[in-house]
Amino acid sequence: MEVRTRVIVAIFILCSILLPPAGSTWHHRRGKRHRNFVFNHGFASGGEGGDGNPSHQRFDAFANIFFDAAFGNFAKFRVGFYDQTCPQAEEIVAEVVSEAFQNDKGIAPGILRVHFHDCIVTGCDASLLLDSTPSGKDVEKTSPANGPNLRGIEVIDEIKSRLEIVCPGTVSCSDVLAFAARDSLVLSGVPHYDVPGGRRDSLSSHSEDIDGNMTIPSASIENLAQLFARKGLTVEDMVVLTGAHSIGRAHCPTFAYRVYGFNQTHHRDPKLEPSTSTRISSTCPRPNTPPQPDFTGTSMPFDSSTEFTMDTEFYNQLFEGKGLIESDQAMAEDPRTSDIVKEMASNEDLWLNKFSKAMVQMGKMDVKTGTEGEIRQNCRSVN
Ligand code: HEM
Repeated sequence: MEVRTRVIVAIFILCSILLPPAGSTWHHRRGKRHRNFVFNHGFASGGEGGDGNPSHQRFDAFANIFFDAAFGNFAKFRVGFYDQTCPQAEEIVAEVVSEAFQNDKGIAPGILRVHFHDCIVTGCDASLLLDSTPSGKDVEKTSPANGPNLRGIEVIDEIKSRLEIVCPGTVSCSDVLAFAARDSLVLSGVPHYDVPGGRRDSLSSHSEDIDGNMTIPSASIENLAQLFARKGLTVEDMVVLTGAHSIGRAHCPTFAYRVYGFNQTHHRDPKLEPSTSTRISSTCPRPNTPPQPDFTGTSMPFDSSTEFTMDTEFYNQLFEGKGLIESDQAMAEDPRTSDIVKEMASNEDLWLNKFSKAMVQMGKMDVKTGTEGEIRQNCRSVN
């Protein structure tokens, strides 16, 4: 062991004795395909694992410096990843998201959904942002599961072009997306939370990867729970994260079938509360009746009273039969999920707290780090 390393180790052992370890631990990430350890740089109590105790925070700070010094770039995925290489990065992201939000609050749910749909397919690697790849194959973006309704991608482009001026080739598109999703949520009422950085961007994107890896509104709770479990998320994470439908909109094709010949027995889904049913049929005209309406571009808010605010109104409306999409409604009824929905509906602070933790967890899905992938210059194409 070289002298410098011995000194560092000795200081670390001394400090470990003097200061009790707290939130700073090595976290083994959930899920089968996770290879990296994640070092937690959460100093504040709101960060991952931070408990607000000053001596623990001192320990955290020291441990961070120790590990960075001793292991060089081993800490490949952590909060504050760009502190040295592009200190303005998160500030620039927040600024652009905020500007865009002033013009159109809909970009907040849009960016959040883009982040979720990117992560759940092949991991949080910005594969969804690619317009094309050198292989010429269909990319994720072209899949009907993403549809023509992805909102907010132009905001990610704007952030990336500003970052490329200040810190060229440094901040990945996948990190931009994760930070922008957090900032969108903050603007919609979620308390600020720390997001680790260090993700790298994929070199490919295939629309066929969507098969079996995407949430479908008519899927059973069992199937959705299995999908989330494969991605390292629990049933509670699934219910908590689906509270994202507190903001944003759904388009008629994803729910109008519930009021037009729902099944052999019921023309309208009996689980739908009558006034919601009526609102759906007046917003989304019956398909296949002349003049043929094109309702693919027509949408309704998930939460009929507070479309732009992250609150528990969405969960409460599920108990009133006002949920637009079938799987959301099913969460309030299925024995595996209904108690969790009830708990979240009755305690907004608890839900918001669990929501931001689950978002951080979601943002760790199969991330590429270190020398994997690349830092794209333009989020729409590989370098
Ligand atoms: C549990 C299974 C889920 C299903 C079945 C589902 C399904 C859907 C559907 C059908 C839409 C409407 C798309 C459209 O018609 O334009 C939608 C929108 C949305 N989803 Fe989900 N989703 C699920 C989970 C999630 C999760 C975990 C998140 C985020 C953490 C999320 C965030 C959103 C957002 C924000 C929108 C609104 C997008 C906008 O307004 O542009 N969803 N989802």
